[in-house]
Amino acid sequence: MHRAYAPYSRFPVGVAGLVDDGRIVSGCNVENAAYGVALCAECGMVSQLHLSGGGRLVAVSCVNGNGDPLMACGRCRQLLWENGGPGCQVMTSSGVRTMAELLPDAFGGDDLDDF
Ligand code: THU
Repeated sequence: MHRAYAPYSRFPVGVAGLVDDGRIVSGCNVENAAYGVALCAECGMVSQLHLSGGGRLVAVSCVNGNGDPLMACGRCRQLLWENGGPGCQVMTSSGVRTMAELLPDAFGGDDLDDF
């Protein structure tokens, strides 16, 4: 979160993910003068996941500028679902939860097979 570029919201976010091969990938939010195109920290982390060799996220911790757990926004829950699946463990303010709990009845790649 110390590397966040958040001059508009002044709300820095940092995220780290444990990959199934033991790697750690991370990200920070990157805002823009066109507010709506801000990149959440999770976007950067997922980009680094693929850039550094791919794999699956098994655990994720996202924090605000105080280092407190920050719940992923709806769009980023979808990103975590795609790259970690239902069993991915996520630190929240109420303890560790799975992605299946945070995004129940999620839309995913499997749904595309049904058409
Ligand atoms: N933000 C994230 O980086 N991740 C989230 O899951 C929620 C929100 C960022 C986006 C924006 O730069 C700032 O937090 C305030 O919304």
